Amino acid sequence: MTASAPPAASAGSPILAMARRAAALKAAGRDIVDLTLGEPDFAPPIHVAEAAMAAAARPLGYTPSNGIPALRAAARAAIARDRGLAYGDDEVSVGCGAKQVIFNAFLATLTPGDEVVVPTPYWASYPDMVRISGGVPVLIPCPAEDGFRLRPEALRAAITPRTRWVVLNAPGNPSGALYSPQEIAALADVLRAAPDCLIMSDEIYAHIRYTDAPYASIAAVAPDLRDRILLVDGVSKAYAMTGWRVGWGFGPSGLISRITAVQSQNCTQTAALSQIGAVAALEGPQAVLAERNAIYRTRRDAGLAVLSTIPALDVPVPEGAFYFFPRLAKGGDDVALADALLDAGVATVPGSAFGAPGHIRLSFATDAATLVEGCRRIGAALEGRA
Ligand SMILES: Cc1ncc(COP(=O)(O)O)c(C=O)c1O
Repeated sequence: MTASAPPAASAGSPILAMARRAAALKAAGRDIVDLTLGEPDFAPPIHVAEAAMAAAARPLGYTPSNGIPALRAAARAAIARDRGLAYGDDEVSVGCGAKQVIFNAFLATLTPGDEVVVPTPYWASYPDMVRISGGVPVLIPCPAEDGFRLRPEALRAAITPRTRWVVLNAPGNPSGALYSPQEIAALADVLRAAPDCLIMSDEIYAHIRYTDAPYASIAAVAPDLRDRILLVDGVSKAYAMTGWRVGWGFGPSGLISRITAVQSQNCTQTAALSQIGAVAALEGPQAVLAERNAIYRTRRDAGLAVLSTIPALDVPVPEGAFYFFPRLAKGGDDVALADALLDAGVATVPGSAFGAPGHIRLSFATDAATLVEGCRRIGAALEGRA
């Protein structure tokens, strides 16, 4: 018997690596503005803490691997309320953040050599998760000129008989790009012709948008594809609960039970207290979503006001999420740039981490004064470059 090859090694998240470098410099006394992490700087709504504190005094055991019934019910009610989508109780599974649900889905479905189409720039974790699961990420460039959106003809050209998944992520990390219903419908047309291909719709930033247009989820725009779609969402970004580690996926019951099976042999479930907090977030007052969107929008505009005066950068305006993804107007090495910016007192993530060299990513999930100071330092560091 021969042993099978070990999964491809992963160097770990380059975003977290940059954040660690920034933290180490800060700990050594350096004045660093940290714009690396996509981590809301707000506290969760107070009723989240209250619910979790009340529950912490009671005995808490293992929960079902697909989540406590109250959270499954709350997530289903939320997706019906927010996106008009009806899912049954056997069509949702909870994990340790959207991240683990996505990973579970790849682990549950990929066989060696299966391809996963990943529009690029991408959230840095997708290609690594695919590789660790034995699959092959197929990276499709979606440049700034195309609004960082996947074009139907590029999708058509990328699909092969080995394609198992296509990943869609809107608003996108790092681009902040959104799709119109018409654009999603055009992608759905292509996907109809590839019936064996599953669709991962990562909607973790769906609540963080700077447009009044309704959100276009492929599950709503193309309901005939419903049985091939895994819609991923969670509380991390919308409710500022990254550390609570709660996310979920909606999809056909067969896929969902395979995802739950992986979860059950992994860490069993995400923490019971976190699940109780997530129920409170979903069932409590929702005004916080609009209030925080307004704050992010103010920050975005404050950051743009500075960044747009830097001749060395082209700065697309993000429509959602909380990242700027500027490009060096005359090209250049983004890794060297991020290093130089760190020396100049501002921590960013090089675009290469997202498959887009020549860009840098700046998070504006930080207060406006810090953000503006970070952008000002970037301008000073780049002075004379363009
Ligand atoms: C596009 C995208 N999907 C998923 C996640 C993971 O979210 P969670 O905290 O729910 O695991 C992130 C976090 O940065 C993200 O940017």
